[in-house]
Amino acid sequence: MHATRLVMRWLCSLATAGAIVFAMTTIRAQDQPAATPDPGDVAEGLRLYQQKADCRSCHGWAADGHKSDNQMPDAPSLREKKYTRALLILTIKCGRPGTNMPAFDKFAYSDGRCFNMKQADLTKYPTRMPDPPATLQPREIEYLADFLMSRVVGKGSLDRAKCTELWGTDADVCHELK
Ligand code: HEC
Repeated sequence: MHATRLVMRWLCSLATAGAIVFAMTTIRAQDQPAATPDPGDVAEGLRLYQQKADCRSCHGWAADGHKSDNQMPDAPSLREKKYTRALLILTIKCGRPGTNMPAFDKFAYSDGRCFNMKQADLTKYPTRMPDPPATLQPREIEYLADFLMSRVVGKGSLDRAKCTELWGTDADVCHELK
């Protein structure tokens, strides 16, 4: 009798441990970026980067910090450091208060979703974040992150092969590179 109860308890704890491990792997699976993002999403991210979100105006079309619009503030290369996808999403969504990196989420500073700050909290910084060229839907921010993670982040300086990889095709702008 006693032994059966012990075995039962042991089986129960095994089941609990199993459930926890299962929950953890599920959460981890959700957290993890898809190993190979959908090519359609990457292409959409590239389009958003170059056009609607106009990241290129400050960061350059190759995201190497050579801005394509002289009137715009200087912005760093996104090719050198390794960012996590989560950090990219946060930075695009919320911008960087006190710098020239704009927030692309329309409600970034209206309901506390970014750093628990509201519009009024931003006024204490000497540098006012510029308005974004356009506001973006959460889905669009995901596409941008897919594009950056697979074609920009950690890729280092540009050569013809990386330029072609960035555009996903042998683009004219790549031809003068070695
Ligand atoms: C108005 C100019 C401007 C635009 C437009 C802009 N950025 Fe930025 N971005 C900046 C500046 C300036 C910084 C540096 C902020 C700082 O000093 O920390 C920055 C920083 C960043 C960083 C963090 C870099 C690092 O090493 O810490 C990321 C990532 C980034 N931008 C991505 C984007 C993306 C993606 C877009 C388009 C959706 C975009 N930016 C649009 C100006 C801009």
